[in-house]
Amino acid sequence: MIAKPALLHPADYLDPGLYAAEQAGIFTHQWQFVGFAEELAEPGRFLTRQIAGEPVLVINMDGDLRAFRNVCTHRFARLKAAEAGQDSGLRCPYHGWAYDREGVPLGIPGNADCFGLDRAAKQGLALKRFALDRIGRFIFVRIAAEGPSLADAMAPHGELLQRLSDGFGPAFSQVAQPWAADWKIGIENVLEVYHVDAVHPESFRSVVDGTWRVAYQGPHSIGHAGMRAEALRWWEGVGKRLGLLAVPGLDHYVHLHLFPNLAIGITAGRLISVQTYEPTGPGRFTLRYRLCLALGGKQGAARAAVESHLTALNETLLGEDRAIAAEVQIGTASADRPALLGANEDRLMQFHQTLLALKNTHRLASGTPPSHPADEERQENRI
Ligand code: FES
Ligand SMILES: [Fe+2]
Repeated sequence: MIAKPALLHPADYLDPGLYAAEQAGIFTHQWQFVGFAEELAEPGRFLTRQIAGEPVLVINMDGDLRAFRNVCTHRFARLKAAEAGQDSGLRCPYHGWAYDREGVPLGIPGNADCFGLDRAAKQGLALKRFALDRIGRFIFVRIAAEGPSLADAMAPHGELLQRLSDGFGPAFSQVAQPWAADWKIGIENVLEVYHVDAVHPESFRSVVDGTWRVAYQGPHSIGHAGMRAEALRWWEGVGKRLGLLAVPGLDHYVHLHLFPNLAIGITAGRLISVQTYEPTGPGRFTLRYRLCLALGGKQGAARAAVESHLTALNETLLGEDRAIAAEVQIGTASADRPALLGANEDRLMQFHQTLLALKNTHRLASGTPPSHPADEERQENRI
């Protein structure tokens, strides 16, 4: 038999205790892509995210990007409720404490009469700060104070991210949608093209020709799918009409998975779909995706028509994935053994190996006994 049993057990997609361990052991320590620099270009522009259970505020403070815990240190009001926006500064909506660029509450209404906080005391009430770094326009945040640099964590793909950053424009379409599935089911779905015939018989199947090869780099991987001649011709024509500058070296369909939950699909060097699979609880996640065209060309009716076609196509194919992912989540609840992975699903095996190694490393390093000894034993046996 060529096929092998998957390394993850159904409980890994269902169990709240394992979900919590995964958040603490993996998402706390990994760099998370949060957005493009242009989304935070002006002072006061911000976005909010939930990463490993932490409410995170990423904000442009007088030209510098900062990541803070999105919670006031007075009586813990959330500082920003919106997912993105722009304000004149960082001021708590409850009693008006105003924070400076280092997250220190320098402006406290009634301080002298009611609080008597000197500068040192205010510094002690600074917002918790998280690590923030960037590769080109890709902005990343990490919750853990210590860990590998972003460049090391993304290696050897920093150069590719920089090329994508340089070669593609701002998102023309941006979507955040809840999926009724564990984030790993979402990622596993994009790690193979085996499902394309059955799930995307018209949408994605009209783009790719069924050929597929994968290269692995540490925890990351790249898949290359051949594109159908008609799809390539369509992109050639559209590229010429709109004046898009195809990014060299990215022919056909290239799919980059940056562990744990960032996936970038690159079509004909002219379109990227940047996707994050953001866990929101056991058995659910938010898919956030941005579509960007290669640089070049002008705005106009022709471009708007292409953008709206691509927006609709992605809505359709991700809708198809979303529906099947929910079915997998439901089915997994009654599964009593690991899934079976074919040779064309090898990329999932590498994903599982990375996950299990990280979970075990963290638990050993922290000295915390596993919350589910039976599962731990099972996982160790499978590595
Ligand atoms: S809770 Fe923020 S100022 Fe009071
Ligand atoms: Fe799919």
